[in-house]
Amino acid sequence: MSWLVTGGAGYIGAHVVRALADGGERVVVYDDLSTGSTDRVPDGVPLVVGSVLDRTALEDAIRDHAVTGVVHIAAKKQVGESVELPLHYYRENVTGLATLLEAMTSTGVGRLVFSSSAAVYGMPDVDLVTEDTPCLPMSPYGETKLIGEWLINAAARAHGIRAASLRYFNVAGAAAPELADSGVFNLIPMVFERLEAGDAPRVFGDDYATPDGTCVRDYIHVKDVASAHLAAARRLTDAPEGTSLVLNIGRGEGSSVREMVDRVLKATGRQDVAPHVTERRPGDPARVVASADRAHEELGWSARHDLDDMIDSAWQGWRHHHG
Ligand code: WQD
Repeated sequence: MSWLVTGGAGYIGAHVVRALADGGERVVVYDDLSTGSTDRVPDGVPLVVGSVLDRTALEDAIRDHAVTGVVHIAAKKQVGESVELPLHYYRENVTGLATLLEAMTSTGVGRLVFSSSAAVYGMPDVDLVTEDTPCLPMSPYGETKLIGEWLINAAARAHGIRAASLRYFNVAGAAAPELADSGVFNLIPMVFERLEAGDAPRVFGDDYATPDGTCVRDYIHVKDVASAHLAAARRLTDAPEGTSLVLNIGRGEGSSVREMVDRVLKATGRQDVAPHVTERRPGDPARVVASADRAHEELGWSARHDLDDMIDSAWQGWRHHHG
């Protein structure tokens, strides 16, 4: 198989590209470089610079590189920004996917692995979220991911495409410092940034109905997210036409914000610092933890890396990018 990885020059994409290449798959990166970087594309992997809104460029890349499957990671992914710029998010994430599916059907490419998100669940009121837990997204970002899954299901039925939508939970860590997320949009990098500025890390609310009062999430190492893509790509290779899987990609273990902040303080040698509890951040669910059983059953995949791996590698990445 020869896989086109859209968004392959980004944080998660770069890890997926390496997992596929290390697994013996042929890989081509397709990225508009709006947030991705050429530094992340490994030697020997072709890079096509283009937008997912450009059907002709997608078709050319597919033909030029004899592509037989697509891993679609390119997307806008900031929840808060999606509330401010919903039209932009729908265009990039929904129209972008529709354009990609058109390019795939016109060129006869019949396999797709799609980056979805736990954001499709919104505020789930269950201990462990299964793929059958109702989807009630709370942001335009989450809506675009759920609509993307629907579009893929419909295309799988109508056009025989074999697809897997991977609902990532809270992705963290890096396989190498230079591959780390350079953005500061999530808990772990936000704690690093506060510490580096000489400020106390913030805990957004400690009055949730959770054991220590802070929000609980399912953190997963980006290396495990990447290996899930390789497993999904292989699973689709021999799958019957019209197969459309939806799979949670998490560890099935909850960690509270307070626990995470304490671990970051330990990993950075800053146990002298006391976190500062602030108001709740609007829209945060109390608890979002995956049941990862279906991914294990369908792909034979499960996560292998722990919180220390995630936090230590994220810290090395932070020092690489910001040190
Ligand atoms: C985690 C917890 C915060 C910073 C988001 C998206 C989700 C997915 C991953 C894309 C929350 C708390 C944070 C801080 C804090 N993205 N926090 N102090 O909100 O679970 O998920 O990113 O698919 O769709 O919603 O992740 O890392 O922002 O926050 O207390 O300085 O840490 O309130 O409880 P979140 P996060």
